[in-house]
Amino acid sequence: VRFWAVVPAAGVGRRVGAPIPKQYLPLFGQAVLDHSLEVLLGESRIEGVVVAVDPHDQRWSTTRYAAHPKVRKVAGGAERCHSVLNALALLTQTAAAEDWVLVHDAARPCLRQTDLAAMIDTLRADPVGGILAVPVCDTMKQADRQGCIARTVVRDGLWHAFTPQMFRLGPLREALARALADGYLVTDEASGLEYIGQTPRLVEGHADNIKITRPEDLPLAEFYLRQQGR
Ligand code: C5P
Repeated sequence: VRFWAVVPAAGVGRRVGAPIPKQYLPLFGQAVLDHSLEVLLGESRIEGVVVAVDPHDQRWSTTRYAAHPKVRKVAGGAERCHSVLNALALLTQTAAAEDWVLVHDAARPCLRQTDLAAMIDTLRADPVGGILAVPVCDTMKQADRQGCIARTVVRDGLWHAFTPQMFRLGPLREALARALADGYLVTDEASGLEYIGQTPRLVEGHADNIKITRPEDLPLAEFYLRQQGR
């Protein structure tokens, strides 16, 4: 059984408010996407990485790992799950249905090398797979339409779902395709597996594995990268 990675990098990133997609914003002079790929390529057990980029994307070819022998590009789709499905379709040419695929957001550059390795160690013998996550520590509120608090959500047992999300190629592809065909738009891979009745495992990671989403995330990501000595 082999390990592969898929990196959805075809989003426009409107919430960050920058003129270029967030995966190409610079962190210490290198694109967010390059930092994310650096960690995946730094894990020797990962045989290859498929990056999904927008078909009109002009920037990908100028990035650090565009010509790396382990990296291949595929066209992204309208939603994240379409981008992932396109990448999985390409992977089926070289990977087996039981091979593991780690899907990692291009916009999560602060993934720790040690969390990635620990996740593979924890899940490689698991029948289903799972995701990196951290327990919620803030009190959670459900809003009403007026922007007031409708109720307080019980925090106990709530986790933030991060990436990588690690599943076997065959079941992952089937789960995402089935959810989409049924009109259920999944926002992560685990929800696809849940949709077909599987119970993915939560692997506790670190809270610095943030997804670049808002303008204030960029200086925070640089702080975390420095803390990790990167
Ligand atoms: O927008 P969001 O932060 O949820 O995006 C998560 C990841 O999915 C990002 O790395 C983004 O580039 C990617 N994405 C994609 N194709 C889309 C939308 C998002 O690959 N159509």
